[in-house]
Amino acid sequence: MESKSFSKPTRTATVIVGTQFGDEGKGKLVDYLSDKYDIVVRYQGGANAGHTICFDNKSVVLHLIPSGIFHEGCVCVIGNGVVIDPVALLEEIKKVEELGYDVKGRLFISHNAHLIMPYHKRLDSLHEDAQGEQKIGTTGRGIGPSYEDKFARKGIRVVDLLSPDVLQEKLRENLAAKNKLFRNIYEKEEFDVEELVRDYSEFDKIIDPYVTNTQLYLSRQLKAGKTVLLEGAQGCLLDVDHGTYPYVTSSNPTSGGACTGSGIAPNYVGKVIGVVKAYMTRVGNGAFPSELFDETGESLCRIGHEFGATTGRKRRCGWIDLVALRYSLTVNGVTEIALTKLDVLDTFEEVKVCTSYMLDGKEIHDFPTDHPTLSRVTPVYKTLKGWMSSNAQARTLDDMRPEARSFVTFLEDELQVPVTFVSVGPGREETVYR
Ligand code: GTP
Repeated sequence: MESKSFSKPTRTATVIVGTQFGDEGKGKLVDYLSDKYDIVVRYQGGANAGHTICFDNKSVVLHLIPSGIFHEGCVCVIGNGVVIDPVALLEEIKKVEELGYDVKGRLFISHNAHLIMPYHKRLDSLHEDAQGEQKIGTTGRGIGPSYEDKFARKGIRVVDLLSPDVLQEKLRENLAAKNKLFRNIYEKEEFDVEELVRDYSEFDKIIDPYVTNTQLYLSRQLKAGKTVLLEGAQGCLLDVDHGTYPYVTSSNPTSGGACTGSGIAPNYVGKVIGVVKAYMTRVGNGAFPSELFDETGESLCRIGHEFGATTGRKRRCGWIDLVALRYSLTVNGVTEIALTKLDVLDTFEEVKVCTSYMLDGKEIHDFPTDHPTLSRVTPVYKTLKGWMSSNAQARTLDDMRPEARSFVTFLEDELQVPVTFVSVGPGREETVYR
């Protein structure tokens, strides 16, 4: 029989994932890499993420638009896995345009992405208030309730805006139960279907030029050999399946989520870059084995400006945790590490690294994935010598202080994954790239 030749997937897609509890500095890395990629895609989360990009003496926080938007040649896609708040999106488009960057023809929004409705935001705050001590620490942006509707098959998607009749019907069904809850349980006013249809139809007129079948668009671009960067928000330890459940976000920040949240098949993915902050932070509640409650923790918070880009909340801080990282790198299939915020450790005489945990008198090396067990572990540390000077001018590993280099190679040896990028300051140029 005559042999046929079939085309093979190009593997030109790269996933950027947060490996800790989010806020690792993914925005800077995506911005840094964007001029080497044709397309950048956000694949999950919503305006609860805050990706900070520093360039030309400006610091810009993006919540929904992919961090590649400040590179003119780069197309940005908001994938089907993202939940979109129309108000936040329109504000962000305006902000980007005011900075002198055109988004028309460069920004695409998936017609299958779900929308955040005003009732989601209200439900978010009401649920969180009702939790008392058990608060998850959500951002109150309606993300969780919007994903709840998605999985209950009651969500409103961007495509539903195309037909006001469909939208009206869906909202009527949706609000029948929710309005009862608002009226009878929470004693709040009800939402009006007509008003929502009016407001969201106005939104549709503005975003219509951006909406498309992004799955189809991306697969065609990949087949044509284009390169795609998939930008995650939050981090592996907040993943609804693989994180410290129930203290997690409502989506899948892990690399698997990059495929479901964009429609890109796994065999197009060549690299998975895990963003690792040189220490740990966590916002909101939930177990955090290497958390510091002393002056060192306060110093990490102060020097690292560890306050949420979206909410302004103070982040809990602690030493880097290799038990959690080994788990995270495995779950994500991380092929290389981008180490960020190394400069925050510049003034520490010694730097600690959590290498294992103690649990009920035994040393363990595997990350407990059930929250009650994780809450009972205590960290075991290895202490390394600090470098006590800045690496801000370093552009290669050889330019770095020997102790800082030892820290990097120690992480590589322990994690068995190469560190290919070290961020030594927030600016684009403050980067060591191997
Ligand atoms: P989420 O998706 O919300 O988890 O965000 P993120 O991972 O993009 O992180 P975020 O931008 O919230 O936080 C990172 C902060 O650290 C920002 O203010 C960045 O400007 C800053 N940053 C990034 N890299 C470095 C670095 O190497 N050094 C210092 N000092 N700051 C950095």
